[in-house]
Amino acid sequence: MNTLPSATSPLGQPLDRVDGPLKVTGRARYAGEFQEPGLLHGSVVTSRIARGRILAIDSRAAEAVPGVRLVLTHENRPPLAGYDKAYEDQDSAEGRAYRPLFNDRILWSGQPVALVVADDPELARYAGSLLQIRYAEEAPDTDLMAGLERAHAAPGELPEPRGDVDGALRGAVLRLDLDYLSPVEHHNPLEPHASTVHYLPDGRLEIHDKTQGVQNCQQYVEKVFGLEGRVRVLSPFVGGAFGSGLRPQYQLPLAVMAALRLGRSVRVALTRQQMFTFGYRPRTLQRISLGAAADGQLQALTHQAIGQTSRFEDFTEHVVKWSGMLYQCPNVRLDYRLVPLDVFTPLDMRAPGAALGLYALECAMDELACAAGIDPLQLRLKNYAERDQNEDKPFSSKALRECYAQGAERFGWSRRPPQPRSLREGDRLVGWGMATGIWEALQMPASAKACLEPDGRLVVGSATADIGTGTYTVMTQIAAAAMGLPVDRVEFRLGDSRLSRAPLEGGSATVSSVGTAVQRACEALRQRLLDVAQQSPASPFSAVGLEDVEFIDGRMRLKDAPHTSVELAQIVQVSGALEAEASARADGKRKAYALATHSAVFVEVKVDEALGTVEVSRVVSAIAAGRIVNPKTATSQIVGGVVWGIGMALHEETLIDHHLGRYMNHNLAEYHVPVNADIGEIEVIFVEERDEIVNDLGSKGVGEIGIVGVAAAVASAIHHATGKRVRELPITLDKLL
Ligand code: MOS
Repeated sequence: MNTLPSATSPLGQPLDRVDGPLKVTGRARYAGEFQEPGLLHGSVVTSRIARGRILAIDSRAAEAVPGVRLVLTHENRPPLAGYDKAYEDQDSAEGRAYRPLFNDRILWSGQPVALVVADDPELARYAGSLLQIRYAEEAPDTDLMAGLERAHAAPGELPEPRGDVDGALRGAVLRLDLDYLSPVEHHNPLEPHASTVHYLPDGRLEIHDKTQGVQNCQQYVEKVFGLEGRVRVLSPFVGGAFGSGLRPQYQLPLAVMAALRLGRSVRVALTRQQMFTFGYRPRTLQRISLGAAADGQLQALTHQAIGQTSRFEDFTEHVVKWSGMLYQCPNVRLDYRLVPLDVFTPLDMRAPGAALGLYALECAMDELACAAGIDPLQLRLKNYAERDQNEDKPFSSKALRECYAQGAERFGWSRRPPQPRSLREGDRLVGWGMATGIWEALQMPASAKACLEPDGRLVVGSATADIGTGTYTVMTQIAAAAMGLPVDRVEFRLGDSRLSRAPLEGGSATVSSVGTAVQRACEALRQRLLDVAQQSPASPFSAVGLEDVEFIDGRMRLKDAPHTSVELAQIVQVSGALEAEASARADGKRKAYALATHSAVFVEVKVDEALGTVEVSRVVSAIAAGRIVNPKTATSQIVGGVVWGIGMALHEETLIDHHLGRYMNHNLAEYHVPVNADIGEIEVIFVEERDEIVNDLGSKGVGEIGIVGVAAAVASAIHHATGKRVRELPITLDKLL
């Protein structure tokens, strides 16, 4: 089954992005850029209160503005499904999904309460400002820390406790009890969410939406509006998403409502402020207790995470499970709780759960290294887990030792003086910190179709997405390798709900899921090509099977007689286009193993003692993720993750006014993300890791692992520089001075 890479195989090559020319020339069009004569524009009006009811909406002034076509509210919206199930999607949290414009209830500040539709977007926005909305306001409750006693167990499974945790903690020579805090963070992709709904003459809808899953959005619209079989969703280009496009966002149903009511095509694009009115990374309190022998050997570990959620859904992610699998430890107890607040439901954000959990765990490990008086890297090696103790399984592969060794070597870790405040450069204190990262190697069911056109071009399609990750490029490489064609003869199509079924693009699972399906579809197509070739009279292939032929340089040839070959293009010139569709799902052999990517990240910071400013001058991130299909796009994934990890450590925080229950810094001026000047040298190493269990390709995915552990490494480097522990993100200068 495996397509082994040869010297000329496109697999493993640093191919430039195949969609690059379209993007840099502006020909790649995004959801809010599709035009149509007579297209109408909707502007969303959001609630200024966080909890209560709408008493009345007076829209007369807005409706009187020339060019305004509709003011849509809960009072005049089209019919919507009445059952909760209809509003669920592939990334739903447990509970009752929000129903847009369903009734007069206000559940969070920023909830959409009306859509004003006009001939142009500025007019719609202006008219929206004329709405007179009266509310019955109730005091909101938005503070996680004030609601801790209301925390309930998060739904979903946690690893069973093991050993005698309390006894081991009591008996430990070294004992640490530590609390870590992390704030709300919002996704801020360059492209805000937008939907353009084309109302076709026969009443069907063709929707350009910003999403990580076209079929997820298609099913959502069909169910909510009772439009089975009448909706197509397209999303060929996405300007970043990071998880924000995993669920259908409210601009989609609002645009559909307006299109249905008016029988016209409508676009709704969110403003940057409105990007702060839906999912986000939840604020958390994490409590970790470590018990260890004097030499740092772990004896007991507890990790409790308490996160915020909405009143209507219990959002869960894997925050604490990593703490039971990353290090060898006989006595472990994990706990995960949620506090419902008057806020919207959190949402997966890059490395959901792991980015938070590993921040706390890896900071605590650094504190343990200090307490035991041993090097932080040595502490990790001393407690290295050869098996996943959560599930008592071996790893399918785990090249984490190599990550530690190669990362440390490249960084120069062995020259690190153990004492904090012992490195200086001019006015600045210099510190070195490190951390481990882990993410699961998922595989979801997926399918793909491969078609060899009469001109010899291979067109492969699957309804996945490319959110900037490089899906177009790596799928082109996988298909080219599987068919023995040069990459410039291969075209990959995605982002269309009519294509073969694909999962959401998320969880770092696209190469493993869709890539495997692409490879299988090409294998099925090879069989079809052989079948056709065998039909021609006196075919040299008549008596052979697929195992006797190979596909190289656009030709099919006999393995035993390489000079006996036929050009693939020649076969389809005779037969016409040939196509094959195939599906792939996780192989049963995976069940006996733990499957995960790992990383070791090393960070240098320079801290100005007088000003408290922190510069991350150098990062080395060593990654073990199985086979890397494209080292160029994969490196970009890791660099992006590291940049975000630096933002998580030092910059990002959505601040809420708990009196109003409302985010205050909902713009890119006051919500800080790292800019170029904040980023120093970032070096990425992919260590070799062969894995024959994880999937046919041996690839584990690289989308999330880059961010995991980075914030802990930065925090630990700051401690090494300054001697100060800051256990609350982001580490801003006020906390350092
Ligand atoms: Mo990612 S948070 O799985 O889009």
